[in-house]
Amino acid sequence: MTWEHALQLAVEEAEFYRGATSPNPPVGAAGLDIDGNVLAVAAHQRSGSFHAERNLIVDLERRQLLEKLHTVVVTLEPCSHHGKTPPCTEALFSASVSRVVFAVRDPHPKASGGENVLREAGLEVICLSDFAPTHALQSARNQLGPFLKVTQSGMPWITVKRALDESGSMIPPPGRKTFTSQESLQMAHILRRRADAILTGSGTILADRPEFTVRHVEDHSAKSRVLVIADRTGRVPREAPEYIEAAQNRGLEVLVTEDWRSTLRSLVSRGVLEVLVEAGPALSSDVLNHDWDEHWVIQKTSTSEDSIIRKLR
Ligand SMILES: NC(=O)c1ccc[n+]([C@@H]2O[C@H](COP(=O)([O-])OP(=O)(O)OC[C@H]3O[C@@H](n4cnc5c(N)ncnc54)[C@H](OP(=O)(O)O)[C@@H]3O)[C@@H](O)[C@H]2O)c1
Repeated sequence: MTWEHALQLAVEEAEFYRGATSPNPPVGAAGLDIDGNVLAVAAHQRSGSFHAERNLIVDLERRQLLEKLHTVVVTLEPCSHHGKTPPCTEALFSASVSRVVFAVRDPHPKASGGENVLREAGLEVICLSDFAPTHALQSARNQLGPFLKVTQSGMPWITVKRALDESGSMIPPPGRKTFTSQESLQMAHILRRRADAILTGSGTILADRPEFTVRHVEDHSAKSRVLVIADRTGRVPREAPEYIEAAQNRGLEVLVTEDWRSTLRSLVSRGVLEVLVEAGPALSSDVLNHDWDEHWVIQKTSTSEDSIIRKLR
């Protein structure tokens, strides 16, 4: 088993919890024996609960495999501070780990520094970002992108999702709210599942009254999201107050704003890492002209019932 493969397993494990860990990043870890065999894979599952490294150690202890643990491969630099849980560096010491291989350095001022603490204690420490990029390293960086952006810029990660018909229009036929296939609906709900907030425009609310719940895939338990409605003229509270009440009853916190960028920025202090933009053409193009990180297009074709799903960035 190579570190590359172990890192890929760690990324895949963490991906399942993406959206459940905010304001913490999704982090995965794999534990290897001295011959490089994978003993276990674990992830950070929720803010306030154990980090990936500690979950890995607990799992190995439970399965009486801890004494075989030699190397921990983890997507993010282990923390060395007391937050809601004790430092991961201490957990690694207590498990007598010999080597720690991690993908990305932690830029967070409180959490960084684990690399030096581990090295000073005599462990072999390897940061994969110091070497040529690999597929697994890039996957880890992509997964940690929202956390890195929030930490470095104070703005959440913004993913724009647009569905287009055969002619490139975003407007569904009269009487319908969507024109895409089951597969693309599922993709849309995977993106929604990992979002802490959804940004839409007044035009979409008044045209479609969307539910903005996660269906088609299983949601994280007890996940709460913020629904931000860009509405400079107060049309939604005026014309559809019952929509706001119903959305709140579905568990969404509704914020109506004249300035979507400053509202999104303000959400960072409340733990929002990722925002999904599910708006019509007017607001989508405004976002795409300003601040965004990821852009998904679901395009209906004239030749097939299926849609083409493309990630443009
Ligand atoms: N295909 C898709 O992916 C998709 C997704 C969602 C919706 N839709 C469709 O889109 C249609 C509605 O289109 P739409 O363009 O009216 O929806 P929209 O983009 O969701 O909402 C547009 C409204 O947002 C308000 N707004 C607030 N701040 C804005 C800003 N900075 N820039 C632009 N607009 C801002 C504007 O009203 P004020 O000027 O009053 O503030 C504007 O009229 C519906 O038919 C819906 O089905 C399609």
